[in-house]
Amino acid sequence: MTPLRALGGTSDILPEEARAWQQLEEKARRVFHLYGYQEIRTPLIEEAALFTRSLGEAAEIVTKQIYLFEDRGGRSVALRPEGTASVVRAFIEHGMDKTASLSRFYYLGPMFRAERPQAGRKRQFHQVGVEALGSASPYQDVEVLALLVQILKEFGLKMGSPGEPGVILKLNNLGCRNDRPVMLKKLADYFAGHLNDLCEDCRQRFKVNPLRILDCKNEKCRSIAHGSIPPESEWLCADCRAHVDTVKKALAALKINFEWDPRLVRGLDYYSRTAFEIVHPEWGAQNAVGGGGRYDDLVAMLGGNPTPAVGFAIGLERILLALGEREEKPQGPKVFIATVTAADIPDGMALAETARRKGISVVPNLEDRPLKRQMEQAEKLGCSATVIRGESERAKGVVLLKKMASREQIEISEGTWVETLQKFLSE
Ligand code: HAM
Repeated sequence: MTPLRALGGTSDILPEEARAWQQLEEKARRVFHLYGYQEIRTPLIEEAALFTRSLGEAAEIVTKQIYLFEDRGGRSVALRPEGTASVVRAFIEHGMDKTASLSRFYYLGPMFRAERPQAGRKRQFHQVGVEALGSASPYQDVEVLALLVQILKEFGLKMGSPGEPGVILKLNNLGCRNDRPVMLKKLADYFAGHLNDLCEDCRQRFKVNPLRILDCKNEKCRSIAHGSIPPESEWLCADCRAHVDTVKKALAALKINFEWDPRLVRGLDYYSRTAFEIVHPEWGAQNAVGGGGRYDDLVAMLGGNPTPAVGFAIGLERILLALGEREEKPQGPKVFIATVTAADIPDGMALAETARRKGISVVPNLEDRPLKRQMEQAEKLGCSATVIRGESERAKGVVLLKKMASREQIEISEGTWVETLQKFLSE
């Protein structure tokens, strides 16, 4: 029989890698709480329409990458390719758009995109992200950016500025829904004169959304796109200009470095005004460690009360890639309970339960096998101590405590053995 394997682009996270994941998740939760964000957990599957409506019918994530299928009831469902649309759906479904207060959510978990797998690009990958709903203030954008930078520092990444080592924050303003048609018309006029030089994909993009051409990785398209951006004064409204000025000034006040990039467009259609990415300068095309921006129209687009919002998501696989291999010994049990004969096993299990109730991580022997083999297992598990118990110890009302590093063995009374063990483990 052909052995079964994990699907391409999905990975098992084994115990020796899991510690690094847990540490990132713990750090993220700590920083999210410091900024007043609360966890939200949404389902991994949703009605497909949620994503087609939110992300844009023409967005590559929808046309090429979304995992779509019909469920047993004939409904069209999708594995979530990102978290924002689901958070907004939940926000509306639970009536949070009807209250005037600010909602701040964070989430961690797997997302699914059918992309060609490579380093840092998976079909099941993991994001941590935040969504702040209810404020149109440019200072809300800046606070979200401050949180993003703080979390990356906490993870151990260095924030660089252009020309210096470290990851870089790239920032742009995409304008609001009134500016968009003006911008698109100007781009379309420009690209219409270069259609024959664009790649096949970009000729398609030209028909559906010329903004997407700016995101093409093809060198020729990039050089054509270089001259395509009209000056802000020709398309960005006064409110958007004021918004971006405030964002830039507040970032400077908080000493957050950024690179202004007028060609930065995001792969999802719901953004307006502030859009940003954190890029790793040495990574080439797949260089985004995280990204996000404002999406002031999405709540209304999905049927809720109009609610301005801003957020970001970070890809954890890419963080681990940026930090380099960091395998750590998984945290194993601290204590092994060895028993002399098979008849002693239930007694050993009872000792294990007593120790666990005091918060000590314990594995008891469950097999009929010689003590020597049991000691070998204790070594393999990396235990600091082994407690040995047999008929004669029971008769004397004691247990034997063997300290694995020094090989020293002491006899302790069964009335105080857990306390003695705790003291030894904390030394
Ligand atoms: P996104 O830019 O599509 O934004 O994804 C955010 C991050 O997820 C990327 O920067 C990257 O690190 C990671 N990522 C994306 N695709 C993959 C993949 N196939 N394999 C590994 N990592 C990947 C969003 O998802 C938005 N929901 C962010 C947001 C939140 N905007 C507003 N609020």
